[in-house]
Amino acid sequence: MINKIHTLGGYFHEYQKSLTNPDDFWEQQAECLYWRKRWEKVIDWNFEEPSINWYVNAKLNITESIFEKNLYTHGNNTAIIWEPNDPADEAITLTYRQLYEKVNQLANSLKILGVKKGDRVALYMPMVPELAIALLACARIGAIHSVIFAGFSAQSLSERINDAGAKVVITSDGGYRGSKVTPLKEIADEAMEHSPVVESVVVLKRTNTPVEMKAGRDIWWHDLMEGKDTECPAEEMDAEDPLFILYTSGSTGKPKGIVHTVAGYMVYTAYTFRNVFQYSRGDVYFCTADIGWITGHSYIVYGPLLNGAQTLMFEGTPTWPDAGRFWDIVDKHKVNQFYTAPTAIRSLLSLGNEYLAGKALDSLKVLGTVGEPINEDAWHWYHDHVGKNRCPIVDTWWQTETGGVLISPLAGITPTKPSFATLPLPGVLPVIVDNEGKELKGNSVEGNLCVKFPWPGMARTIWGDHERFRDTYFSTFKNYYFTGDGVRRDEDGYYRILGRVDDVINVSGHRLGTAEIENAINEHPLVNESAVVGYPHAIKGQGIYAFVVCPELSTGGEEGIRRSIKQGVTKIIGPIARPDLVQIVPGLPKTRSGKIMRRILRKIAEGDATNLGDISTLLDEDIVGQIIDSALVDVKH
Ligand code: WTA
Repeated sequence: MINKIHTLGGYFHEYQKSLTNPDDFWEQQAECLYWRKRWEKVIDWNFEEPSINWYVNAKLNITESIFEKNLYTHGNNTAIIWEPNDPADEAITLTYRQLYEKVNQLANSLKILGVKKGDRVALYMPMVPELAIALLACARIGAIHSVIFAGFSAQSLSERINDAGAKVVITSDGGYRGSKVTPLKEIADEAMEHSPVVESVVVLKRTNTPVEMKAGRDIWWHDLMEGKDTECPAEEMDAEDPLFILYTSGSTGKPKGIVHTVAGYMVYTAYTFRNVFQYSRGDVYFCTADIGWITGHSYIVYGPLLNGAQTLMFEGTPTWPDAGRFWDIVDKHKVNQFYTAPTAIRSLLSLGNEYLAGKALDSLKVLGTVGEPINEDAWHWYHDHVGKNRCPIVDTWWQTETGGVLISPLAGITPTKPSFATLPLPGVLPVIVDNEGKELKGNSVEGNLCVKFPWPGMARTIWGDHERFRDTYFSTFKNYYFTGDGVRRDEDGYYRILGRVDDVINVSGHRLGTAEIENAINEHPLVNESAVVGYPHAIKGQGIYAFVVCPELSTGGEEGIRRSIKQGVTKIIGPIARPDLVQIVPGLPKTRSGKIMRRILRKIAEGDATNLGDISTLLDEDIVGQIIDSALVDVKH
């Protein structure tokens, strides 16, 4: 494959080249893709506004780099392998030509529904091939897709639909996840009561769950696709036209609609996919993420398909029918690269090695992890028991905002160290700054992780709120993109991600804003106020610990209120945000100016109140002792 690094020397050479002449470097990475009109300039940027433009004035359609560029040579090769929830059901494969035809049929269908370039289409679907088809159909006609993870509640769905102003929603009657069926259309109907912007709803039949079809608005996927032309000319897009919006949580306010644009995202996902995973033609690559998150966008759909890869999509869960399911899939489809999250590894590890017994796993060449720091135990178990000491692990650090991997080993090339994301990819310039924004140079330093030069895959704005984009990422430390993560660079110059330094928590690899959860809790009629922090959790990485003030609580009613608070959050956001621990407290530790001292609550939730630091600024110091006394974890103090 072209533009693929093969040796450590090659990596250092490319890295150096990317620093000394980024224009040439990124031009070279773009050459192997399909452009209608070439760029006039490679990069035009400043981090003050910020204004970030890549491949200036180029014209293209990302689906032409997936299809038109390659159909002659590999139209009959497999594009998607789909493994259904139930192992007794048959897997489906789609060749590049078959995928192309379905994408075009849906693209033509969406046009009939009135979808035009720049319109937003919301996708609320299970992990079925039609979800990938829907993404690509939107891209084909220049519509902006906004995927909403199918675990989100009606309210979360509605808020995202409204924020993006989506005029079409694509959903399904239901979705299978293990032994559960989620009635997606029913949830979407509830969402639509608060989303009058939506004109049409396309419904895929998957579970045969009975649904109500609203006349004039709802239409079955199969009826819509019936007889549609399998050719649909691709819309010509400007390099900086939006490709998609994806909502993610931040430390304050509502989730942000992160916007990625066509050309830079294309070049970056294509380049990073083949280099990080060292993908070779014919390999079978399996990423266990959901397309509802950025990992699924970049490394199930776009990155692999831009490389003509075989990408495996899995509908179900790692533990159903039993905890050997991933390994069965690896053996069944002879998976070569396997990419998952530390939380899945920890959960499988905790269930015991018997689920690995009898699995060959001999097709595996590369293992990957993403989404949260991986602890050493999990790393070693993955390496020894899954990879049988033969497969390099790529611990890939990146974010929804970065579009693709920024810091990671290249599989089999970069020497690894457990729990280290190791080195930046070519073109990526990480810096570590202290809290005053001073760059900490050299090795053996620890601080806030920033990036000082743009890369093509970076987000361009927050949908409808550029100021928030600037404030969130470019104003904390002047002239740097601030990631929100803490990091250590060790004596070898290797990066180890330490976790978030802001009020974002990472629960089972899902990113959640504590403010969002607090807002949901505060909607409970008996709750006065609340504070949410993360605490160490053996499987999830972080669990959700809520401290809640309910002044009118009658004695004995605690259990009931805890349950109803948890239910409330599930209803408002979705099950992923459900607090693990809810402690009813007489008050929150606040400064005299009324600010909640989260640092103290974090310490208590971590079970260590031996060193709470200076608490003399607290309005009521006794509160801390009272909270510790009735804490739901053992607290040393
Ligand atoms: C965390 C997921 C440690 C980090 C692609 C980041 C990681 C957040 C790693 C982004 C890793 C992601 N090691 N931490 N390899 N990868 N993170 O937007 O805190 O869902 O800021 O993107 O996950 O989460 P997001």
